[in-house]
Amino acid sequence: MLRRLHPEQPDSFAFTPANKAWAEAQITRYPEGRQASAVIPLLWRAQEQEGWLTRPAIECVADMLGMARIRALEVATFYFMFQLQPVGSVAHIQVCGTLSCMLCGSEDLVAVCRERIAPRPHALSGDGRFSWEEVECLGACTNAPMVQIGKDYYEDLTAARFGEILDELAAGRVPVPGPQNGRYAAEPLGGLTALTAQEEGRAAHNASVARAVELQDTIRRIDGGEVPLRAAWLGEGEAAMLERAGQPPQPEPVPDTPAADHDDRSRGRPVAEDGATRQEAPAEKAGTPEPEAPMTRPELHDSPPETADDLRAITGIGPKLEEALHEAGIHTYAQIAAWGPAEIAWIDEHVPGARGRVLRDDWAAQAGALMKKD
Ligand code: FES
Repeated sequence: MLRRLHPEQPDSFAFTPANKAWAEAQITRYPEGRQASAVIPLLWRAQEQEGWLTRPAIECVADMLGMARIRALEVATFYFMFQLQPVGSVAHIQVCGTLSCMLCGSEDLVAVCRERIAPRPHALSGDGRFSWEEVECLGACTNAPMVQIGKDYYEDLTAARFGEILDELAAGRVPVPGPQNGRYAAEPLGGLTALTAQEEGRAAHNASVARAVELQDTIRRIDGGEVPLRAAWLGEGEAAMLERAGQPPQPEPVPDTPAADHDDRSRGRPVAEDGATRQEAPAEKAGTPEPEAPMTRPELHDSPPETADDLRAITGIGPKLEEALHEAGIHTYAQIAAWGPAEIAWIDEHVPGARGRVLRDDWAAQAGALMKKD
């Protein structure tokens, strides 16, 4: 398949102020002279903002990175994840057509796309609101057949359910992503045969779906204001970037005790919006020791309250971790839901076995969801 720029292009492209600040922050993550390494994240953000990659957007990114425009064009035209033609204003549907999904009915989903959206992939529907394409395996084979819509997966689909999803999107609603046949995640179709205790008191959605529901960004065009910009490796430079992006600087938590040497996430150090952790900091380049990550003691109970919660309902907490949490004075969902990065750093340091798990399994979001459910 030839990947060419679309014949009709807009006159110009500009990042929104918040996206521009985000892009400038990303560029600083790479060593001097290697700024071109930021080309993929910046192209991706341009696409997230506009829906597709226009020639002015590609050239804007190249200019920001001080690289020849042809180099940025090479990257944009090489990777299939970059859309080089306009996509539906509401949603672009990516149907997995690889083996598992094909065996489980992806051709029926493609037929729905052909009938409901456009006969050919990468063409807009009559009203310009939808487009579709067939893609290679998206790694959710256990839940085949599936489609990606915007940022999220809709799994265990039938042609009928897929049609309903298109109807809901057309009506301005965003259906809850994840399995569409009642499955919680990727457990056996007949239900759990082991670890069945996991089914008791669990959150309404699996962690991935819960995150999508919380962020409400499934088909949203990203303007940079969705989450606060964090670029802690910049030190004072972060404050200037936040100001330019129109975001108030985030107050730093009060340090408690020094952190041990472990990874960025488990130290509660602010993490880049895209989930990437920090790169070499200017202070490190100059040989200056890096300041310790902030750590704050969370609210703890001296004895179990009458309304203690079942912490094992949180995915990632088993009997041993629950015991360790109880010993530390943590007994309720409300305590866990209130944790921010500094509290998580404290937990990593003081609760045996918890290091790295709080963030990885997003205990705070899970606890919040369990509180709502209760
Ligand atoms: S084959 Fe469709 S997700 Fe892997």
